[in-house]
Amino acid sequence: MKPAEVNSQPAERRPITLVDLAEKKRRLEPIVMLTAYDLPSARAAEAAGVDLVLAGDTAAMTVLGYRSTVPVTLEEMLVLTQAVRRGLRTPLLIGDLPFGSYERSHEQAIASAQRLVKEGGADVVKFEGPSAGRAAAIAGAGIPVMGHLGLTPQTSTALGGGFKAQARSAVAARRLLDDALALEAAGCFALVLEAVPAEVAAVVTERLAIPTIGIGAGPETDGQVLVLNDLLGLFEEFKPRFVKRYAELASEMSAAVSAFADDVRARRFPAREHCYAIDRAELERFLTSLEADA
Ligand code: KIV
Repeated sequence: MKPAEVNSQPAERRPITLVDLAEKKRRLEPIVMLTAYDLPSARAAEAAGVDLVLAGDTAAMTVLGYRSTVPVTLEEMLVLTQAVRRGLRTPLLIGDLPFGSYERSHEQAIASAQRLVKEGGADVVKFEGPSAGRAAAIAGAGIPVMGHLGLTPQTSTALGGGFKAQARSAVAARRLLDDALALEAAGCFALVLEAVPAEVAAVVTERLAIPTIGIGAGPETDGQVLVLNDLLGLFEEFKPRFVKRYAELASEMSAAVSAFADDVRARRFPAREHCYAIDRAELERFLTSLEADA
């Protein structure tokens, strides 16, 4: 029996490192990644023992109500990242560089990444797109960086013709592989592959030494990520085919709020158990004081 197993207590989980991720890829052990946007979702990720938590810019649509991820600002991402940080201990926290915070120059990208780390509490950062130069600049500034290829929602309307699967031709699949290899050579520690055919993602995963994390990229990537509000059934505007819903919280939330409203209107809430008591003598004294006023 190993010391950690005495009394059947699970060993205290230590914080995940980049070395752990590389080890998981080597051992073919699936890496679990999730997005989170606030304290409760971060605590759920911690309790589930996930490896990577992305304070993702999908918050723009799932939490902040924007129509795409484009409008969300670095300031808004910082507030969300800080909230997630407060609920996490062991997963690696990924800060997400929002649209407009890294495209202008290496200096702009480094400054934004530094803010996500220094002010947001992120351990590492992620950005979308094939710019190996940008990845090298951020990594060169001492901030571990994750790439994101395939469907890149920040530019999908302008460049990709909408939210649709990518790398579905031989040429596009080859470009995806070349971009992935360039990001790896530039120093990315891992790569998200979004909405690409499973067979293409499998080849990229096999050719890369760094872990791939798939979202709509089939079962053979080194890990899987889902957007939290998709898996909880909290985001109902649309549901990509790669989403699996593990709960229907939007309807539960709406039923709970309606029940509260009904209870208030019917004077069923608050009940006795929701009220604070006052000592009878104090109450008498209070009421008598009112009589004296009259
Ligand atoms: O911002 C996000 O939530 C993401 C995931 C789709 C990986 O980039």
